Amino acid sequence: MPIGVDILENEIIEAYPDVLGILLRDNTTQENILWATGNYEYLGELYNYSSNILPALITGNNGNIIMPRVNKDKIQQQARSKEMAEVFTPSWICNAQNNLSDNAWFGKENVFNKEVFLEYGSKTWETNNEKIIFPNNKTWVDYIRDTRLEISCGEAPYIVSRYDTTTGEFISIENRIGVLDRKLRVIHENVNSTEKWLEAAQTAYKNTYAFEWQGDSLLLAREAMFLTFIENYTHKFREEPLLESVQNIAYIISWNVWQMDGLKGVVPNSCADLIKQNNDLFGNSKNEIIKCKGCECQSIMLHNGTYCNIMDWEEKDKNTGKMGRTTRFVDLLKK
Ligand SMILES: C[S@@+](CC[C@H](N)C(=O)[O-])C[C@H]1O[C@@H](n2cnc3c(N)ncnc32)[C@H](O)[C@@H]1O
Repeated sequence: MPIGVDILENEIIEAYPDVLGILLRDNTTQENILWATGNYEYLGELYNYSSNILPALITGNNGNIIMPRVNKDKIQQQARSKEMAEVFTPSWICNAQNNLSDNAWFGKENVFNKEVFLEYGSKTWETNNEKIIFPNNKTWVDYIRDTRLEISCGEAPYIVSRYDTTTGEFISIENRIGVLDRKLRVIHENVNSTEKWLEAAQTAYKNTYAFEWQGDSLLLAREAMFLTFIENYTHKFREEPLLESVQNIAYIISWNVWQMDGLKGVVPNSCADLIKQNNDLFGNSKNEIIKCKGCECQSIMLHNGTYCNIMDWEEKDKNTGKMGRTTRFVDLLKK
């Protein structure tokens, strides 16, 4: 499958049956993710803010509808910045911040790369091509199991860096700087059989989470993580992974990268005014409007919208006994 910066949904649907359907799934609502942006409403009712994104709406002749922010026109970029605070972070900043986390984890600097100053205050990086050495008390398995989350992820530039989201420049696998890119690099360096590599890659994906409001950006984030898997497998083994393996990864991504209003912990815009009909002694009825308490008092535990579920892959489900227990995102905030 040819792979560029703008991932074409037509290519995904052709090369990997069922995968686009999985990448569009919302595991909380059991429906597809929502557009949750008004940017596509000019295309008709099915593209409304609160409609689900269906494969047919973004494939076939509609195959170019969803494109990364860098390819969107300037007017749309400005509108999205104004309405949703959409401004993406350049790769060199994502790298610098990811380095800070890794400096703390490894207890030393420049593990994956060295930052290099450029003119005008910006930076780039030089990749360290030596095999990553782990501190005495930690192993590469600890590293891929270390759980990370990108909040309000947009196209997820902190997680995967196939391209710089601000310039559109493609980044080669060896020079990538995302959280997941780093986990996959460590796997490459420590595992040689396809079976062990796939198992480790699944662990890395299960420990990488992100959420986002807007459906198009969310899909782009999911697609970028999905293609990162294919690119890395192909880079390592010089052949494409089996369909079953890519479907498994797509399933993990569909859980771990979810659609949520991060301020409320619910599916975007799912809180509503409820109308209660009260009948008095004489048979007269009166409607009472009950507002969402969470929205009124800005209390994250009191919303009447649909609270988002996420998957804890390390815990057993009490009913089935299998690994993987769903839990409400907001309940994690209590811990
Ligand atoms: C400043 S961008 C950051 C995107 C990405 N993390 C980056 O650094 O490039 C902010 C993102 O937050 C999303 N967003 C805004 N309000 C949100 C909310 N309440 N819950 C979840 N995402 C939200 C926007 O859709 C946008 O993609």
